[in-house]
Amino acid sequence: MKILAFESSCDETACAIVENGRVVFSNIIASQILTHQKTQGVVPEVAARQHVPKLLPVFNEALEQANLTMDDIDAVACSIEPGLVNCLLTGASMASTIAYIYKKPLVPVNHKLGHVLSCMLDNKDNFVYPTIVLSVSGGHNELYLMQSPTDIKMLGSTLDDAAGEAYDKVAKMLGLKYPGGPEISRVAQNGDPKKYKLPYPLPTQKLNFSFSGLKTNVKYLIEKLSKESKLEDFRDDLAASFQWTINNNLSRKLVECAIVNNAQEIHLVGGVSANLDLREQIQNRKPRNMIFRRPMDFSYCTDNAAMIAGAAYFVAKDDWKNPGEALQI
Ligand code: KG4
Ligand code: ZN
Repeated sequence: MKILAFESSCDETACAIVENGRVVFSNIIASQILTHQKTQGVVPEVAARQHVPKLLPVFNEALEQANLTMDDIDAVACSIEPGLVNCLLTGASMASTIAYIYKKPLVPVNHKLGHVLSCMLDNKDNFVYPTIVLSVSGGHNELYLMQSPTDIKMLGSTLDDAAGEAYDKVAKMLGLKYPGGPEISRVAQNGDPKKYKLPYPLPTQKLNFSFSGLKTNVKYLIEKLSKESKLEDFRDDLAASFQWTINNNLSRKLVECAIVNNAQEIHLVGGVSANLDLREQIQNRKPRNMIFRRPMDFSYCTDNAAMIAGAAYFVAKDDWKNPGEALQI
């Protein structure tokens, strides 16, 4: 079953074609990063307007890259929630129009489900369960117990900011560009991760997260340090210390949860899964016999339509144990 999907929940206009939830035929992403760098973050109305002229080109390019026509496509999918409403509407309108014109079924997909199943893209392995998934992104931050691609239960989430949001806000405080995650990683390479001791966030709860306190700690530390020295003099050490602290928290909670649940595999997904230090901390912390997967390509970590087309296959298949519950992740 080949599914063509659109993704437009935030600032990426994307279209992709995936077969049977796994085989990626094409994955086209038109980024708006340069626009949002001017405002150091996404302005929802600006993002929505930018999707409109890009949807038709990414659709044509996805078919062209896959060397397919709409006759070869079995269904059309789009992300429906969560996300910026005006942005989601542009992709949903495009998907429903294409589905109507070409007489294909339309499959609405939860954006978070797309991230959760993204390790399957381009991966031919036989996955084993139970699996604990950590989904860390700009807009969401959750731990899931997955018994199969259609049996997924949320175990915990953030009480305030998502990890990606904390990366973006701290980057802004340090005078770095949007999106902040890759920028923090870049400058952290020149810094000492042990230079500033920041508190371990939400130690009392094993399954939930909270990063607003960590963000405030960094803010006050910047104010204090700025009285004695210039930002450039402490920026890299502070970025490295922040990165180490947040990744230490994420990796510890993920691995502890996986051990408690006798997980065979742990999956790290979402935009922050591109972070190499986080991958390394998980790799070093996990038991040796536990399989650690992350998306096969960096383009499947941040928002993309391949993950929506992949998840749509499992949504469309009629073997959901409880479709309502699974869709509400
Ligand atoms: O999944 P995504 O594209 O969008 C949402 O669904 O929110 O994630 C975007 C987030 C941004 O906050 C960005 O700073 C973060 O992922 N990110 C990273 C890295 N690459 C992207 N965070 C840390 N390290 C990275 N290398
Ligand atoms: Zn996302």
